[in-house]
Amino acid sequence: MSHHFIESLKWRYATKSFDTNKKVSAEDITTLKESINLTATSFGLQPFRVVVIDDPALKTKLRAASWNQAQVEESSHVFVFASKLDMSPDYIDDQVRRAADTRGIPYEALSGYGDFMKNTMADKDAAFIQDWSRRQAYIALGTLMAAAAELRIDACPMEGFDAAQYDEILGLKGKGLTAAVIAPVGYRSAEDKTQHAAKVRLPLEEMFL
Ligand SMILES: Cc1cc2nc3c(=O)[nH]c(=O)nc-3n(C[C@H](O)[C@H](O)[C@H](O)COP(=O)(O)O)c2cc1C
Repeated sequence: MSHHFIESLKWRYATKSFDTNKKVSAEDITTLKESINLTATSFGLQPFRVVVIDDPALKTKLRAASWNQAQVEESSHVFVFASKLDMSPDYIDDQVRRAADTRGIPYEALSGYGDFMKNTMADKDAAFIQDWSRRQAYIALGTLMAAAAELRIDACPMEGFDAAQYDEILGLKGKGLTAAVIAPVGYRSAEDKTQHAAKVRLPLEEMFL
């Protein structure tokens, strides 16, 4: 791993206040989207979708549903990770077909693996599926944070919001989704004192057993 990457991780912090005059470029937003889409997920099933919001009125609404945390409104864009509520055989089949098409191999060559995934999921209850989907979304959150840091774009990972209100505002339930975690992104405000605070982390010898 390059030194570079560790420098990026030291540069980033959970940004509390964004510069409202600065917007992330469309090109950089596309790069961030790509980083999320390239994230590894269990079975490659990508059991979440992401809503990217830059509409000011919508951000104001979401702030009210986020314990009034200013980041949500002041950021350039808000990434809302919405995890799947169920995992149907049809959904799995679509992914198997995509794999067959992408790799130019017959569907039949992959259907055994598809059946294995379907059987694995059929054994699980809704609570397990929802928890599992949420965990996959968090992996993507991590990738987004790292990609943003590499681009020197600020972000704040956030769980401090009301998922039911987000689901309502963004119409997620009807799509079989629920808001799992969010990340406002943008550029730090010069006034955000948090940027000067030293990182608080365990010593490596305590973290690694
Ligand atoms: C899943 C998750 C949820 C978080 N939720 C919030 C939040 O709602 N509001 C907030 O200001 N910070 C939130 N944080 C930021 C953490 O407090 C912060 O990442 C941690 O204190 C470490 O500091 P650093 O990220 O600046 O290095 C969250 C972080 C993570 C990873």
